[in-house]
Amino acid sequence: MDFSTFPKNIRIVEVGPRDGLQNEKTVIETKDKATFIRMLQESGHKSIEVTSFVRPDRMPQMNDARELYPLVKDLDEIGTSLACLVPNLKGLEVAKELGVKEVAVFTASSDTFNQKNINATISQSFERIEPVIKDALKSGMKVRGYLSTAFGCPYEGYIDPLRVTEVAKRLSDLGCYEISLGDTVGTGTPINVQRTLDLLLKEISKDKLALHFHDTRGTALSNILVGLSFGISVFDASAGGLGGCPYAKGATGNVATEDLVYLCETLGIQTGIDLEKLSNASEFILGILKKNTTSKFLQAYINGDKNLFIPKP
Ligand code: HMG
Ligand code: MG
Repeated sequence: MDFSTFPKNIRIVEVGPRDGLQNEKTVIETKDKATFIRMLQESGHKSIEVTSFVRPDRMPQMNDARELYPLVKDLDEIGTSLACLVPNLKGLEVAKELGVKEVAVFTASSDTFNQKNINATISQSFERIEPVIKDALKSGMKVRGYLSTAFGCPYEGYIDPLRVTEVAKRLSDLGCYEISLGDTVGTGTPINVQRTLDLLLKEISKDKLALHFHDTRGTALSNILVGLSFGISVFDASAGGLGGCPYAKGATGNVATEDLVYLCETLGIQTGIDLEKLSNASEFILGILKKNTTSKFLQAYINGDKNLFIPKP
């Protein structure tokens, strides 16, 4: 593998406060979520997805979104983009009311997952999100688009890369500045990431693509290497490896931000993240959840008397 062709720096979209926490049953106090977000920002993150304005009964952990955003809003004014996930115009109205500057819309590459997650087929989801994208852009917001089940669906199995390309292109044409391809249940493998990117990059520029891997089967970092070899330079990750979606049967957490940072920094790819501060942020939230981390880096860091041990590239 020719590492010299890889991007020299990457942007990490930290999804810990949203994807990381949405599936957690322990009630986390809003002030603790705000502290977690501030710790993530202090570790160097410039893009943090902080919450979602979805149906509270469908995602109880995100119930306090309206109260949380104002507690961290000042970070957006000092250069950290704080995105919020919105499923429809109702969610967008809340975002507008609170002065959110970036929203993320979401659909999927498979009808069955979409039905379970958002009660809509792919085509019905576009009837919903098209006006959201238009209205958000008109209001001066940036809009990011998620495309779930891009590398496999928990209900439909294999997903044809042609379908992924078609739906991603639709999101891009509607004005999403970036499309994040979600491996919702972590079934993606290097070969299927390669095949999908081979097709997709004929239609969408690499600068408009991001990759979002759940690490259910331990393939996330290998898949990220493939992404890097294609010149992709935006990756979603979650502090400590938390994450998952209650409507994605069998899914576990996102790739841990620590593991992604370690991989990249040891390849000479700058991430802008201070691993010690990031590890502290993860330990803070894991302590509240009373959970152990799935991040290999964080486990080694904790068990190794907090020795960072980052070999120079
Ligand atoms: P629905 O039931 O089809 O919506 O839900 P509806 O328009 O028929 O409305 C039904 C009721 O919900 C109404 O209340 C609405 O007001 C209310 P009622 O009149 O009956 O009292 N409602 C809302 N309330 C608050 N905020 C809203 C909202 N919208 C409607 N925004 C909907 C459709 C999409 C809203 C629902 O299914 C939902 O919220 N689902 C949760 C989806 C979710 O959060 N999933 C996880 C995030 S996606 C993910 O994790 C994947 C990702 O990480 C990438 C990857 O890994 O692949 C991004
Ligand atoms: Mg996800």
